[in-house]
Amino acid sequence: MAKRIEIVVVDDNLELLESLELYFREKGYGVSTADNGETGLALIKFRRPKVAIVDLRLPGMSGLELLESLKNEGIDCRTVVITAYQEMETTVQAIKLGAFDYLHKPLDIDALDQLIDKALSDLPETESIKVVDEEFKENTIVGRSHEMKEIFKLIGLLSEVKTTVLVVGESGTGKELVARAIHYHSSSAGEPFVALNCSAIVENLLESELFGHEQGSFTGADATKKGKLEIAGGGTLFLDEISEIPLHLQAKLLRFIQEREFERVGGNQKVKFNARIIAATNRDLAQMVKRGEFREDLYFRLKVFELYIPPLRQRKEDIPLLVEYLIKKINRTTGKKIQRISMAAINRLLEHDWPGNIRELENVLTRAVVLSKDKCLLESCVVNLLRQPEAGCPASFQLKSLSEIEAQHIAHVLQCCQGNISRAARILGITRPTLRNKIKSLNISFEDS
Ligand SMILES: Nc1ncnc2c1ncn2[C@@H]1O[C@H](COP(=O)(O)OP(=O)(O)OP(=O)(O)O)[C@@H](O)[C@H]1O
Ligand SMILES: [Mg+2]
Repeated sequence: MAKRIEIVVVDDNLELLESLELYFREKGYGVSTADNGETGLALIKFRRPKVAIVDLRLPGMSGLELLESLKNEGIDCRTVVITAYQEMETTVQAIKLGAFDYLHKPLDIDALDQLIDKALSDLPETESIKVVDEEFKENTIVGRSHEMKEIFKLIGLLSEVKTTVLVVGESGTGKELVARAIHYHSSSAGEPFVALNCSAIVENLLESELFGHEQGSFTGADATKKGKLEIAGGGTLFLDEISEIPLHLQAKLLRFIQEREFERVGGNQKVKFNARIIAATNRDLAQMVKRGEFREDLYFRLKVFELYIPPLRQRKEDIPLLVEYLIKKINRTTGKKIQRISMAAINRLLEHDWPGNIRELENVLTRAVVLSKDKCLLESCVVNLLRQPEAGCPASFQLKSLSEIEAQHIAHVLQCCQGNISRAARILGITRPTLRNKIKSLNISFEDS
C-alpha cells in the first residue's frame, strides 16, 4: 500500500483546526495539528510532512518565525500560509521566507485543496546515498541538511578522481562511512577497501602492518607477510586516526606517498602502490603541525582534498531522518520491532547537543530500543540516557563552569536569532536589559542584526 501523505496544520483557531483535520483525513491524508508555533515547528521537524498549512498569527512563536526556522534549518516542507487581508507586509515576508503560497481568511476550502494538490506535485525526493547496493540500507548515509547535501555532491565528485582525501570531523560524525562511500562509488569499487586504524596498533607493529615484512625480518616474522598497502591493490587504503602515526613512521609514509612504491620491512625489493589513500582524523592536524607533532609535508600530501563533516549539533535537522533510519537498523540487529517514536522523545533528542555525534545517537537509541517495552519508543525510554555525557565524547570534551556554559548557550541562541536581541531574550526567558548585561559581563561577541 502506498504511504499516506502527511500534512501538518498549525492554527490557534481550534474550530478551524478541527475542521481542517477532519476534511483532510477524509481525503485520505495523515493529518497532525498544532495550536501554536513552537509545537507546529517541532511537529514539522519530526513528521517531515510534504506540506504544512500555517496560520501567520499565532500566540508565542509567530507563523513567520516558524517559516524562518524552517528556512534556516533547511527543512524541505512546502508551507501554505493563511493570512488576513490587511497583512500584505507579512504575506510578502512569508513568501520571502520560502512559503509556497498563501490564502486569505475566511478560508475557501476549494482553493486550499487546489493549493495542496499543487504543492504536492513535483516534489524533490529525500536525499540519501547508498554505499553498497546489496541488501537493506546498511551503509546508507542519511541526511537532508544543506551540509550533508554538499557532502553527497563531494562524494560524487571524489569518486570520479583517484586523489588523496583527508576526511576531518569530530568523533562519530561518519568519517569512515564517507570514506567507504567514495570507494564504493568509484570505478575501483571491485577492488579492496582496506582500513587501518593507526591508533589501535602498537607502535612497533604498525610499520609491518602497513608495509608488510619479509620472513625473518624480526623475531616472530615466521613468513613473508603482505602489509595493508599491498593488500589494498588498486582499491582504497583507509588510514583512520592518521594523527596517531608516530613521527618516524610519518617520514616513511611520506616517502612512499611521493614515490608510490615501498619496501617490505626487512626487504629491499620495491613494491608498487596503486591504491588511493583516504585518511581520517578528529584532531586538528594544522595545530599539531604547529606544535611539531605532525609533519607539515605529510599534512600537505594528505590534504590534497579535505572533506569536513560538521558535527551533528550543527545540522540537527538530520536528527529525525537519522532516528528513523537508525531505529530500522537497530531493529534488525536486536530483533526488536519498534515501529514508532513519540513526538516528545524526538523533541528530547533534538534538544541534546550530541558531543559524540551519530555514534552517540546510535548508542542512545540502541539502549532505548532495548529498554522499550512498547512498539513505540517513548520519551521515558530516552530521557535518562541523555543525562550523562557519553563515553563517545570527543577527547577535547572538558568539564566547564556554569558561566562558560551560560556564555556558550547565549552565544548559540544569539547566532540562531541572527543577533536579534528581542527574540533571543524571549527564547532565553530573560528581559532584554538582562540579556545586554550578560552579553557585556560574559564578554560574548556576536553580530548585531
Ligand atoms: N549520515 C549518517 N547516516 C547514517 N549513519 C551514520 C551517518 N553518519 C554516521 N553514521 C553511523 O554512525 C556510526 C559512526 O560513524 P563512523 O564510524 O563513520 O564515524 P567516524 O567519524 O569514523 O567516528 P570516529 O572518529 O569515532 O572513528 C556508524 O555506525 C555509522 O554507520
Ligand atoms: Mg572512524
